[in-house]
Amino acid sequence: MQPVYRILGVVAVTASLAMLAAVSQSNEKPDAKPSAATRSDDPAVARARKTVQMLDDIYKNAVVLITDKYVHDEDDFPAGSAAVALFEAISKKGWHQVRLIDATGQPYEEKNVARDDFEKAGIARLKAGDAIYEQVVEADGGRQYRAVTPIPVVMQKCVMCHAHYANAKKNETVGAISYSVPVE
Ligand code: HEC
Repeated sequence: MQPVYRILGVVAVTASLAMLAAVSQSNEKPDAKPSAATRSDDPAVARARKTVQMLDDIYKNAVVLITDKYVHDEDDFPAGSAAVALFEAISKKGWHQVRLIDATGQPYEEKNVARDDFEKAGIARLKAGDAIYEQVVEADGGRQYRAVTPIPVVMQKCVMCHAHYANAKKNETVGAISYSVPVE
């Protein structure tokens, strides 16, 4: 490897790490408060919340990595499409339910929007600056921990396909990931 390539490699890695840091920071705003329904000392709820935090980190890092390394022009397979396919497969398997949704009112695909009251309220809270919106609900077969977490415009490349993201303010939420994991 020629030294010049090595330097470029280091720059690329540093740039990606900065972006990854931006993504994880978006989950860790100090003012993040659990919604009333989840304010409890229940260790099972705490475990479910931790699982979602871990998944959120993995999924968001994957989207940034794919966009950074594999998406070079509009014809490349977008990380958004990869995430939708992955989330459908994981949800179908029954590990947890997870969806990628729009927060701008102009989704690339009509289906990627908040569906129920919880997701709609979550998008509104994230747009207002909250770092997470969460709730524990009774569902078939037991309790589910639900959460929506924000996706900001982390890279300039996002604008290549989502042109209206160019109007987003710094750290503005343009999308969200919606989770439902069993409390057990
Ligand atoms: C190469 C084009 C492309 C790039 C670059 C891209 N996306 Fe997407 N994005 C898409 C497509 C296509 C979909 C719809 C995927 C589906 O439903 O199968 C999508 C879906 C989404 C969604 C779900 C809501 C919607 O609009 O349908 C979000 C949120 C999203 N992308 C965010 C991002 C972010 C953040 C980035 C930058 C890290 C990014 N995208 C980069 C093409 C792209």
